[in-house]
Amino acid sequence: MFNEFSLEKIRNFVICAHIDHGKSTLADRFLEITKTVPPSKMREQFLDSMDLERGRGITIKMHPVRMEYQGYILNLIDTPGHVDFHYEVSRSLAAVEGAILLVDAVKGIQAQTLANLELARKQNLVIIPAINKIDLPQARIEETRQALAQLLNIDPSEIFLVSAKNGTNVEKLLQAVIEKVPPPHGDVNKPFRALIFDSKFDPYKGVKAFVRVIDGKIKPGEKIFLLQDKISSEVKEVGYFKPELQPQSELKVGEIGYLATGIKEPEKIRVGDTIANQLVEPLPGFAVPLPVVFASIYPADPADFENLKEALAKLKLNDASFVFEPEKKEGLGRGFRCGFLGTLHVEIISERLKNEFGLNLVISTPSVVFKIITPWQKEILVFSASDWPAPTEIKEVLEPWVRLEVITPVQYLGKVLELINRLRGKAIETKYFSPQQALLVYEVPLKAIIAGFYDQLKGVSQGFASMNYQILDYRPADLVKMEILIAGQKEEAFSKIIYRDEVYQEGRQMVEKLKKFLPRQLFSVAIQAAVGGKIVARETISAKRRDVIAPLYGGDYTRKRKLLEKQKKGKQELKEKGRVRIPTRVFLEMFKV
Ligand code: GTP
Repeated sequence: MFNEFSLEKIRNFVICAHIDHGKSTLADRFLEITKTVPPSKMREQFLDSMDLERGRGITIKMHPVRMEYQGYILNLIDTPGHVDFHYEVSRSLAAVEGAILLVDAVKGIQAQTLANLELARKQNLVIIPAINKIDLPQARIEETRQALAQLLNIDPSEIFLVSAKNGTNVEKLLQAVIEKVPPPHGDVNKPFRALIFDSKFDPYKGVKAFVRVIDGKIKPGEKIFLLQDKISSEVKEVGYFKPELQPQSELKVGEIGYLATGIKEPEKIRVGDTIANQLVEPLPGFAVPLPVVFASIYPADPADFENLKEALAKLKLNDASFVFEPEKKEGLGRGFRCGFLGTLHVEIISERLKNEFGLNLVISTPSVVFKIITPWQKEILVFSASDWPAPTEIKEVLEPWVRLEVITPVQYLGKVLELINRLRGKAIETKYFSPQQALLVYEVPLKAIIAGFYDQLKGVSQGFASMNYQILDYRPADLVKMEILIAGQKEEAFSKIIYRDEVYQEGRQMVEKLKKFLPRQLFSVAIQAAVGGKIVARETISAKRRDVIAPLYGGDYTRKRKLLEKQKKGKQELKEKGRVRIPTRVFLEMFKV
């Protein structure tokens, strides 16, 4: 049907939307209209369920699809719907020429809408704005339309009003993709070059790289190079997304498809890298994002260590930004210290470990990566309190800062501001999209928002406020290491990096929590929090008194005294010898999110 190959007939596009604004539902309608999936096989959120997961009701990634409609080839690929995957979003956007910007008519413009829009503009994409869910009685169509027109600086009549659910105006929207999105350009006679925007492991044919062909063409059997590492291989198979992977004889300029690389090491196929058939210039903009958040993951059952290791390695296949290395912790045994792009990334990985691999896990509270400048001007990255250098080795401590954008309906503005003001940040600007909706832009330390800020924001706004953040840079911070002593012994596993002015408050919380969880001993046990050798908080667990004289009925006073004396002496000895054995349960309680 499409023998006549022409770039003019190709449209490559994405749908950008905030979580739940209807991206997957709209894609379903496209699949139906273009008859890509026969009606008998159609089920809801078809592309989501293909092989990737739906954790927390969020599409982590949607499967790419090639549709044919009115003589055109329409390639729809996904943008990962979350802030933590900023880098990957920008890579998917680099593979297309147009974006449908989809906004929920009830919720209006949200933080993610804005973040996506900004990225799409950076890639010079043609943006087709659409308002979804117009069928809902509570839809605020006019208000959303005005706000979106103002944001995009266009006439409100240019915005499509659709219902992805019942199909209203969806066909018109697809027509607009054909009319407004420009065809790809490139040169079929140039050497083959393609941009990797995703990948999938195949044990037989090697990693399948999902690519957008920029120039030239490629066939199975041809030699390829991964330009980042300059490694070479031979193409095993090429094909399209129909949406299942369908082998073809070749992939050409402008097309989106996959390429089985024959390479068995998944870490070599990185999103953003260029595949070419000779060592030419790579496409611009390759940079693997660095993790900014760390958390430790341990198997609840130590016997699962190897299983966990295997599962992490598998997850990494699809997620180049995720890093992990083995570590050992007292009370927890062997586990892994893992680096993430943000806290949602932590959640997604842990959900996947639980759901897809059936692992029972202990996951620490995420912490940020600090930077320390030594007196001799060396820079060290510190991932956990146990790596914190001695005070004499610290000249300056730096922490990551982010640009935080919060969008909220004005009726929650007061409460939202109250929350943001606790973040030790700096207000940058406030904007109104409409009389009902405000955008607050702040610069804040990442540390302040990784501990529950998102949930609190949802809490004070009944779920209506949304947020987005972007890493800015590292800035000076007054941070110290707090240590915990139990019966005079330092317990490194409980150490924590905290702000100096929160030392007393944090110290108090820690010792109280420990007091609650530590079992009583035969002698009294001091729990102390210390900073730089100075005790900042203390609790004492009183001794467990064993009733040694209970078996003695009646008189014999001397024997009673003797027994009590003996008990006292024993306790003193215990205390002197005294390391308290801390049950694993306590480590778990202190460590858990
Ligand atoms: P994520 O995958 O979580 O990012 O969400 P999404 O943007 O893909 O949204 P999805 O398509 O899963 O839709 C979210 C919810 O909105 C679902 O319950 C849909 O049924 C519903 N929905 C989507 N479009 C419409 C619409 O036009 N009208 C109505 N009434 N509901 C819709």
